[in-house]
Amino acid sequence: MINELKKEIDQAKTTFLKEVGEVQSQEDFRNIKEKYTSRKKGILTGFLQRLKDVPPPDKPTAGNAVNQLKVLVETGLNEAEARLTALKATKETHVDPTLPPFVYPVGRAHLLSAIRKRAEDIFISMGYEVAHGYEVELEDYNFTTLNFPEYHPSRDEQDTFFIKDFPDYLLRTHTSPVQIRYMKQHKPPLKIISPGKVFRKDDPDATHSPVFHQVEGLLVDKNIHFSHLKGTLELFIKAFYGENINARLRPSYFPFTEPSAELDISCFMCFGKNPLCKVCKGTGWIEILGCGMVHPKVLSNCDIDPEIYSGFAFGMGIERIAMLKYEVSDMRMMYDNDLRFNCQFG
Ligand code: DAH
Repeated sequence: MINELKKEIDQAKTTFLKEVGEVQSQEDFRNIKEKYTSRKKGILTGFLQRLKDVPPPDKPTAGNAVNQLKVLVETGLNEAEARLTALKATKETHVDPTLPPFVYPVGRAHLLSAIRKRAEDIFISMGYEVAHGYEVELEDYNFTTLNFPEYHPSRDEQDTFFIKDFPDYLLRTHTSPVQIRYMKQHKPPLKIISPGKVFRKDDPDATHSPVFHQVEGLLVDKNIHFSHLKGTLELFIKAFYGENINARLRPSYFPFTEPSAELDISCFMCFGKNPLCKVCKGTGWIEILGCGMVHPKVLSNCDIDPEIYSGFAFGMGIERIAMLKYEVSDMRMMYDNDLRFNCQFG
């Protein structure tokens, strides 16, 4: 008897699976539901009633088989119902192919990010690594280790944001302390650039902002001399501003480089031909960045022997090189987030 019952249940399973797969409409669904689950005449009810007649030792096996059918029927019906609902939703979605397409607004990089990325790409192509420092920096790394004398004017509270209650810390005034952090952790040869935010107590105007951005560069190895610095910067300038732009170095002073220089580029506006040129003020040259050979004291402050190693460093303002490249007349436009400005770049 039990075998007969199990066989019938198996058959019912096969038939159910076939029928439930063919459900196409609500009517089909109602019919199959009725056929299998109706309290009075449903196939499941029929099997449950027959359980009464099964001899006690076979009852658990038979009960189990009926239960399996029940679960199969429930799951199958649920799936069929979900399929019908989805079908209905698709049919109800009206597509009007004459409507204009929805235009997804595509973002673009801010001018400052685009310039930073361009500078990074040029130096990465020369084998430099991008290193990062901290915006809140030790006064020691920002000034002392970089060979700033104790009474250098930029250490004054008038010029630098110090951190209240943390006298050893300040908001870095330049990206040069990344040189220190990197040299303290890596031994030469090293070759990095480091872009980032810097802070100075300046009132905002067309060419000043209390927060702006710089890119620092540092290379240290054996036998590095000034011509390496010159060649590297010339390569950068031509890649960044164009092959027709020339560079010149002018002696200058920074505490952390010796000798130090400033790099000027030939004026791309007037090529030195317009005495009234606003970009170069008639000089034919535009000041771009500071640079020099890393001071031996800075190397030894970082446990690098200046008798064995030498290096060069440079630092430039991202806003400044961006303003010059795109003739942006007021630095503040770069922070206003006016889309009419921002959408012209990137
Ligand atoms: N840190 C300097 C500044 O903020 C820029 C600079 C000059 C960086 C010369 C250098 C350098 O690495 O060698 O004005």
